[in-house]
Amino acid sequence: MRSLSTHDACAHTTARSPFHAPARLGILHPRPLRATKGVGQARWPFPPSVAVSATTSSAAGASSSAVHGEAAPSTSAIGLGAGAGGSISWFDSWYPVAFTKDLDPAKPHRVTLLGIPMVVWWDKNAAAWRVFEDVCPHRLVPLSEGRITPSGLLECGYHGWAFSGDGKCEVIPQQGKCDTPRACATGYHCAVRQGLLFVLPKPLPPALRPSGGTNDELAAALAAVAEEEARIPLVSELEEPGGKWLSQDVWRDLPYDWSTLMENVLDSSHVPFTHHASMSNRNVIGPYDLKLTSAITDAGFSGMWTTGPRAGKLGPQSTTFTAPCFLKHRLDSKGFASLTVVYAVPMEPGRCRLINRNVLRFNNAIPEAIFGLVPSWWWHVSSHVLLEDDQIFLHLGEEETARRRAGGLGHSQVCYMPSQADTYVIAFQRWLSRFGGGGPFGGGGLAADGAAFVEALGPRLSRKALLDRYSQHTETCASCQQGLKQVGGAAAAARAVAVAAGAAAVFCAAVAVAVAGAAATGAGAVAAAGAAGAAGGAAAGAAGVLSAVGSVLVAAAGAVAGPYDPTGVSHMLRAAAWALLAAAATAAGGRLEALRKLFYEGVYPPPRNLKD
Ligand code: FES
Ligand SMILES: [Fe+2]
Repeated sequence: MRSLSTHDACAHTTARSPFHAPARLGILHPRPLRATKGVGQARWPFPPSVAVSATTSSAAGASSSAVHGEAAPSTSAIGLGAGAGGSISWFDSWYPVAFTKDLDPAKPHRVTLLGIPMVVWWDKNAAAWRVFEDVCPHRLVPLSEGRITPSGLLECGYHGWAFSGDGKCEVIPQQGKCDTPRACATGYHCAVRQGLLFVLPKPLPPALRPSGGTNDELAAALAAVAEEEARIPLVSELEEPGGKWLSQDVWRDLPYDWSTLMENVLDSSHVPFTHHASMSNRNVIGPYDLKLTSAITDAGFSGMWTTGPRAGKLGPQSTTFTAPCFLKHRLDSKGFASLTVVYAVPMEPGRCRLINRNVLRFNNAIPEAIFGLVPSWWWHVSSHVLLEDDQIFLHLGEEETARRRAGGLGHSQVCYMPSQADTYVIAFQRWLSRFGGGGPFGGGGLAADGAAFVEALGPRLSRKALLDRYSQHTETCASCQQGLKQVGGAAAAARAVAVAAGAAAVFCAAVAVAVAGAAATGAGAVAAAGAAGAAGGAAAGAAGVLSAVGSVLVAAAGAVAGPYDPTGVSHMLRAAAWALLAAAATAAGGRLEALRKLFYEGVYPPPRNLKD
């Protein structure tokens, strides 16, 4: 048995690889983002690697006549030109699949990467996260539906086979231990960096599988592991010693393709309109003078927006796209510097995971201190609104784009982009066609894959399904599950306070009316004594005959209604105070209930940006 010794890496697999067994799309998602018909029935053939060179995929991204008869501008006219370079392999690239702080170590989690169902789980024996193919070798059911045993094994829920962190089957309840490679789970190389769990979705070398290899093979494989981990795409600023960068981290599974997400984040000119009234303003727009500052190569490209956001109020913004799915905008402004970091993780056709870091460095200690106090779930909940601004446009727009490109047309043939504001989008499409093979699922204008891509997208989702933030995030986010509990508990407490304070208000009012009424009718001493007993202010005479429970009740009544006041005025004032508290608690309960709903529901019907 061989296993990796690095503290945060795992790397184990059997001879079975996802390339030999085509992954099934939409399998067993609790609530598929696309309707079952189409996606659930489709199968996507995954080649060993999608590595198409410039010479084999030149159709997409080329400048040519637009479908509506208007001439699309030459991309070279706005400073675009593809540089030299090789091609990328989608399965030999690193992808983040989760923030570790949002994973519950007590249970397995299902994720999908490049169409491969995977299970992420915490191996307490090695103090490391593990990523396996989410398929039990026995009867192929998802391991993510199982559990972590008290001894720290991943146990399949169907017949109880249990696997250690290196993928080895340690327990077959019906038989005992099983040492054959066929009983092993299929593992992937993973590593934790900057709080993110990254996965390399390619088969492991034989020496790192449970069946092992020679010592020399193992040494070579471990050396290769270190080399491979050096390729993980990181935020360089977070590595600066004493850098004081703070990261606001957000993620969500989105009902559109990773390439649509990447285009959207590269496309700054949509922000004032799509996000009007949420984070921007359609009335404050400056020039979108975007320019590439590098050639487009297999590694990506970079650019500069000279004017920058908010009509130049914040200064110029630089952008770097690092292939295949990492993007960073950087803004150095007065008082702060900010990075918008996006990993657009390809899950399956028409579905991606957004991993977003908004990284800030303040020049002032106060915002820095406040920033540090905000719980993770608050950033998640507040980001949903912004993401939903885009959701409907992108879900429907990508379907239309894919449908029109299914016959082999390039992106610039179906979309008309005459403005310099579209520079980055055009550059990305050029990169995708020249170096990215049209994307891991095709659909990038390659005639052979276009129709299959459209079919794999499946039917359109309803607006309500598009905005279902519970299934797209909350359900699988440990931070939000915790936030949901905290907010739900606070709402229940507020409701209880409201009921108790309301009852106290009624009681005080009754006491006030009783004592005032008694005084007015001359019942004098008798009524006063009764009221005093109720109010507790003069309960001493009766205390001797009351039971212990009665004494407590009298004391409580006194605490609620206050000392006996024969005029009833102070009791009535108390009633008003209790009523105010009841109203405040009711209002707080309502606000908390509204906040609790934010974990579940989107803003419906959107979009809010149609308001003035
Ligand atoms: S299918 Fe997993 S133990 Fe049988
Ligand atoms: Fe969350």
